[in-house]
Order: sequence, then structure tokens, then C-alpha cells
Amino acid sequence: MKNIDEILAKSEFSKSDIVQLLQVEGDDEKKLFKKSHQIKIDNVGNEVYFRGLVELSNICKKDCLYCGIRKSNTGINRYNIPDDKILEAAKFAYENNYGSIVLQAGERDDKDFVNRITYLLRSIKEISKGELGITISLGEQTRETYRRWFEAGAHRYLLRIESSNPDLYYKIHTNNDLHSHSKRLECLKILKGEGYQVGTGVMIGLPFQSFEDLANDILFMKDFDIDMVGMGPYIEHSDTPLFQYKDSLKSLDYRFRLALRMIAILRIVMKDINIASATALQAIDPLGREKALKIGANVIMPNITPTSNRSDYLLYQNKPCTDEGAEDCTNCMEARINLADGVIGYGKWGDSKHFKKRNKNKGKD
Ligand code: 5AD
Ligand code: FES
Repeated sequence: MKNIDEILAKSEFSKSDIVQLLQVEGDDEKKLFKKSHQIKIDNVGNEVYFRGLVELSNICKKDCLYCGIRKSNTGINRYNIPDDKILEAAKFAYENNYGSIVLQAGERDDKDFVNRITYLLRSIKEISKGELGITISLGEQTRETYRRWFEAGAHRYLLRIESSNPDLYYKIHTNNDLHSHSKRLECLKILKGEGYQVGTGVMIGLPFQSFEDLANDILFMKDFDIDMVGMGPYIEHSDTPLFQYKDSLKSLDYRFRLALRMIAILRIVMKDINIASATALQAIDPLGREKALKIGANVIMPNITPTSNRSDYLLYQNKPCTDEGAEDCTNCMEARINLADGVIGYGKWGDSKHFKKRNKNKGKD
């Protein structure tokens, strides 16, 4: 075991350094957070960017063993928000100066769906006079689809690798045509090639997951030279197969703190990327997302999904803000971000500084 000051003073962490940092407690943890906070301020400042999140449908062809909206969960009400309601939400984001939105949905790749998303992207660009930035998070698709959506106006894509370790990946997904680790990796590469700002992420505190796995996840993000990251604690859902391992899990509180340490370490390793403060943090601690902003995250995704459907998009249980309207969310966000010493980058795209460097200043503040 090395001294924590010695590790934090290094310009590059080894895998064993990261494994050690993942386990710091007490004063050592405070030192880690102090350092990651400073690196955040020095490199991306204290501005927090909004991405209004629309969870447009929970219809999903995938069957991830941890996810509450997996195809085999027949106990939930499946919804598909009509186009006009989605555009209304986009208009709300535009008029309230959110700067950007995220369209997220269960995974589908049929023609109707691909066409519909293309239409929605064009329409959102139109109603916002090209001003609203658009991130999409719609799973694995063909190169042609990614290209069409990019041309229609999306410029950032989130696709979590879930775990960089294929063995762990296949413990939380059935190994079949629907769930392939190599295909997911391939998709991330295609997205990069097509010009997107690419985001990925992992779940933290999964059954079977070791500190070494998490350290490798951080090194994977660095090697892949990712622009954005969204990662949060794994939260068990009782109607999923992975629930059977609940007794082997660390406590929710531990998973929460581990997720904060992951964010802090990643901020030190990748100084200028965008890091989202995941909603799952708030499901464990009411001030979870604010705590993440303080120690390294700089993006927050207020939910602007029409309220009537919010309680059906339960990837995990105890999901926060499922009964609040979008206006309530904005007010609540502002107060929360002030608490975390942040200022909201109203009306800004807040593109990843890392992406801008990688692409000779493409992207927009
Ligand atoms: N706990 C935490 N995160 C989850 N996700 C899905 N199910 C859960 C869960 N039970 C995350 C996955 C997915 C994202 C949309 O939500 O990482 O990529
Ligand atoms: Fe894969 Fe929901 S079914 S994350």
C-alpha cells in the first residue's frame, strides 16, 4: 500500500493506484475529493450543463439481466410518448434555456423506429432554430442508422459499455445475438468514426464486480479516449434475474460512495471530458447528484419526460422525481446546483472540451 499523497501527486495512475484509490475512506477519501474538485475547476470550471432528458419509450428488444424495462418483464406498462408530446418537451427545454436535450428509449432498430427518430431530430432542430443541442441514447444500431441520425441533427451519443470486462458483461447479460460485448465495442468505434461526441459508462457495485474491474473500466475509457461519461451505482430491481444475487452486494450506501470515487478518479485521469451526474445517485441519496457535481461531474440531466409516463421508465426501483413536472424540476435543479457551488450554463451546448481538442475546435461552448 502506497501513501495516498504519493499516489495523488503522480501524473499518471497505474491500475494498482486506481484499485487503492477506489478503497479510500475518511481523510484519504477527502484528499481524493479535494484533488478531483480542483482539477475539475481548473479544467472545465464550475459551470454545469443541462441536458433535458426525454425517456420517449420503454419498449425494448433487449433483455439485460439487471434492467427493470427488459423485454421479459411483463409486469410493466409499456408506453410510447406521441411525437407532439416529445416536441412539446423539446420546446420546453428550448424556451427554458436548457441548451441541450437527450432522447433516450428502450432499444429498437426496426424501420419505423429509425424513421421516427430521424423525423423527431429534424423537428427538434426546426423548432429550436438549430439552437438546441441533441444527445441520443438509443442503443446499438447500424452505421447507416447512426449516420442518418447524425445528419438529422444528433451530435452526441451515449452508449454505456456497462462493463469493460467481457466475462463480467456475460454474467449480467445472456450471451446471445442480442447481447454481445464485441458488438457494443464496435458500435462505440463506429459512433466515433461518424463524428459523434461519444459517451460511455458502467454500472458500479454490480454482483461479481471487483475493484480491478472498475480500475480497468477507467483505463478503458482513457484508452478509448472517450468524450463523455455517465456512470452510476447499480441498484437492484426485484423483477429482474440479477436480483437473486442481492445478498452478495455491498450496501447501497457503499455503492454510492464507490460511484463518487469512480467519478473523482476519472476526473483526475480525464481532466477535460464531460461527466454526467447520474440519476441513480439521487435514488440512493437525495443530494447524490449534487455531491457528484462537487467532486468532478459537470453535466446534469433534468427529467423533462411528460409526467404521466415517468413512473413507467423504472430501470431500477426508487427512481427519483417520477411525479414532478418539468417546471418543478428546473426550480429544484437551480437550488441544488447552487448548493454544489455550481452555476448553470444556461442556453449553452456545453460540448466536451476533450472532443473539441480531439477535433480541432469543432463543437460549441
Ligand atoms: N441499476 C442501475 N443502472 C441501471 N441501468 C439499467 N438498469 C439499471 C439498474 N438496475 C442503466 C444501464 C443502462 C442505462 C440506460 O441504465 O447502465 O445503460
Ligand atoms: Fe438493457 Fe434496459 S434492457 S439496459
